[in-house]
Amino acid sequence: MKQKQTFALKGNLIYTKEIGTLEILEQHYLVCEEGKVQGIYPELPEQLCGIPVEELGDRLIIPGLTDLHVHAPQYSFRSLNMDMELLEWLETNTFPEESKFQDLDYAKKAYGIFTENVKHSATTRACIFGTIHNEATLLLMDQLEEAGIAAMVGKVNMDRNSPDYLRETSAEESAKATRAWIQAVAERHYERVQPILTPRFTPSCSDELMELLHGIQKETGLSVQSHLSENPGEIAWVQELCPWSKFYGDAYDHFGMFGGECRTIMAHCVYSGDEEIQRMKENGVFIAHCPESNTNLSSGIAPVRRYLDEQIPVGLGSDVAGGTTENLFAAMRHAIQASKLRWRLSDQSLQPLNMEEVFYLASKGGGAFFGKVGSFEPGYEFDAVILDDARLEHPQPLNVKQRLERVIYLGDEREVAGKYVAGRKVL
Ligand code: GUN
Ligand code: FE
Repeated sequence: MKQKQTFALKGNLIYTKEIGTLEILEQHYLVCEEGKVQGIYPELPEQLCGIPVEELGDRLIIPGLTDLHVHAPQYSFRSLNMDMELLEWLETNTFPEESKFQDLDYAKKAYGIFTENVKHSATTRACIFGTIHNEATLLLMDQLEEAGIAAMVGKVNMDRNSPDYLRETSAEESAKATRAWIQAVAERHYERVQPILTPRFTPSCSDELMELLHGIQKETGLSVQSHLSENPGEIAWVQELCPWSKFYGDAYDHFGMFGGECRTIMAHCVYSGDEEIQRMKENGVFIAHCPESNTNLSSGIAPVRRYLDEQIPVGLGSDVAGGTTENLFAAMRHAIQASKLRWRLSDQSLQPLNMEEVFYLASKGGGAFFGKVGSFEPGYEFDAVILDDARLEHPQPLNVKQRLERVIYLGDEREVAGKYVAGRKVL
């Protein structure tokens, strides 16, 4: 149901229109009309007098954050058995755990924990991987819809190089299951949750499957999410599997699944070379930067500054369980920290990211994948998070910007005191 009533939040507003800058409006009214931001005012204008106002006192109000890349079924093994690189970690941890989602009782419990924790976080929107299992993925989508999170969720496709217990029997079967899942989603008439095509990554998907998925993409117009250039062993393997490809991203682009007509998010892009970067730029591919995962799996540090300079759209991903937490404040600080190490240890041509920049990535940068999302400019979706930073005590008064910076470095769900998604209060 559409949020029809016009209302306002009053507090300390912080958002960003442009990367590197913050708009800070203390004790202002943020007005919501029909689920969208109508405007910001120091005092309510006459025509808005009498609308309900939620008085938030000295609290901070920021745009909802977007997690551009997260694996819901991996939530249960976050922070366990982490000392491996990507391909071994997939075989050892990920595939055995994801196979459990065949069992709907298990899926209900595990996805229930994930959804509850995302609900209490500062995340309002997310692009989420499920598993190959249709029923469990639908159950996850039901739970997210119920929780009020605006999510794109993917049933994962895998028809090769995966263990028998987590592999679809053929490209045709995988495509058929995908069509059945899309049909089942349409019948559910979700308000906030949408399907997204999710070939796991090139090593898991045969050429034939990629072609069939491209056919489905053209018919349905659905977006696509996958992984790209995360780990050196993975990249070498893609070159063996697709010897005709000029670079990893070309193995997706060859099948029409790399931006252009097909809105695409690629997670990681740690090792993208000049040609791959150029193609991402031309095709408008979104990059989900996942710094904590890239550290935990010893993958490396993505050159985010370069992507920003090239004006490639970038957002942040938690990439649980490569990352340990759904908390996007953690992703923001990890992005700053990783960029500083990269600058110091390997490449002084790329300046480290600062706090205004990572705040942009987590709000407007990633939000752009969902449309006008992640800002308080008029016409943007009214996604707002209310922060109470009283727990982060300080002996002296701090200004609003300092308080935001401390939430980025110290904050988690304990600071999240309320949340709106497209104008609807979900917390
Ligand atoms: N590449 C293919 N699958 C995965 C996954 O589950 N996690 C990460 N980090 N990379 C992947
Ligand atoms: Fe991932």
